[in-house]
Amino acid sequence: MNILILGNGAREKVIAEKLNNNNNVLIYASENFEKIKNICIQKNIDLVIPSTEVYLCNGIVDYLQNEIDNIKVFGPNKYQAQIEGSKHFSKNIMQELNIPTSKYTFLNNYEEVKKFYKDIRVCVEETVIKYDGLAKGKGVYLPDTVEESLKAIKNLFYTHDDNSGIIVETRLHGIEVSILAFCNGKEAYLMPQAQDYKRIYDGDKGPNTGGMGAVCPVNILTNKELIQVKKHIDKIVKKLNYKGVLYAGLMKTKDCVYFLEFNCRFGDPEAQVILNLLDSDLLNILNDCIKGNDLLINWKDKHVACVVLSHILYPMEKLKEVTNISYVDDIDNTVKIYHSNVNEVGKYQYTTGGRVLSMVSVSETLQLSLENIYNNIYKIKYDGVYYRRDIGCNNKSNKKT
Ligand code: GLY
Repeated sequence: MNILILGNGAREKVIAEKLNNNNNVLIYASENFEKIKNICIQKNIDLVIPSTEVYLCNGIVDYLQNEIDNIKVFGPNKYQAQIEGSKHFSKNIMQELNIPTSKYTFLNNYEEVKKFYKDIRVCVEETVIKYDGLAKGKGVYLPDTVEESLKAIKNLFYTHDDNSGIIVETRLHGIEVSILAFCNGKEAYLMPQAQDYKRIYDGDKGPNTGGMGAVCPVNILTNKELIQVKKHIDKIVKKLNYKGVLYAGLMKTKDCVYFLEFNCRFGDPEAQVILNLLDSDLLNILNDCIKGNDLLINWKDKHVACVVLSHILYPMEKLKEVTNISYVDDIDNTVKIYHSNVNEVGKYQYTTGGRVLSMVSVSETLQLSLENIYNNIYKIKYDGVYYRRDIGCNNKSNKKT
């Protein structure tokens, strides 16, 4: 099969690795749909996997299916992808289907925001501000004061011009966990529970990032809770006839498991850990989802960790120049590397910063996977190299079993 993966991060590299057997896999990133269509035609592509939300929320599935006869595209259409593309849409559906989520207020524009904060009856430290539309991981604020809230919201409106509003919701306290599912339009097939580390600094401090590391499996949710979570995700799948990957960001509080948000694709770095546990053929799963068939999925009884190496300026600034990457020694074969932002010219590698690469290890215990990574991480050198030192450390599964 000729397969095209849209996107160009570490997540796309692990998806490609899982599909490489007996298939021609091409990874390509362009936001121009016409260029994508032309590549599909030139390369005789059978299956397209748009793996970042921007493609899906902008309607790449609808577009390619209209433009090219018989092409298969894995993922939700534009309407369904609003589950990630519009926080308001997603909150409405959750309320309608009785899915536990925090209370919220939707505000259309800055005038409504000012009025809301003038009349606010709750403590502002107990609120979360979220941009309604896509914000590339930069749309969530946890404010401490009204002034800070207004500043953050002004900035959100200033940096996005797609006429989205914002939502202000009640802040929840607990443990976060990611549950992803393969969906065939009728039912959700849950992947093993994973945890990602969103903040830039150790101890979950500092601004949010796309994700600085992940571990899988974790045992945060009990079997009983997982059954409930599946029932809730199934309701969304049935309501939207949703096909593709559905990713639920959950918060386990002392009284309930709440749904914080939905994403319409694999997470990055969650994909790096979850897909390394997949013991079934990924292509069969994707085809069965598209066809609406029942799925049979096997998972390896192993533990995976991922640590993301970024540039020290991430997520605040982009690097203005390139920097060379060198290796002080060979990386042990217990560790895999997936590039996010590494370019190669001959035998030289360089990066322009951001999230640079993911180091992943699969082994018998989470402890060992983490040791494999942290015993090799120093071998990768570039100016401004940065990574968290505490991935997996706060985790219940981080005990030697
Ligand atoms: N790691 C979070 C995300 O992919 O949205």
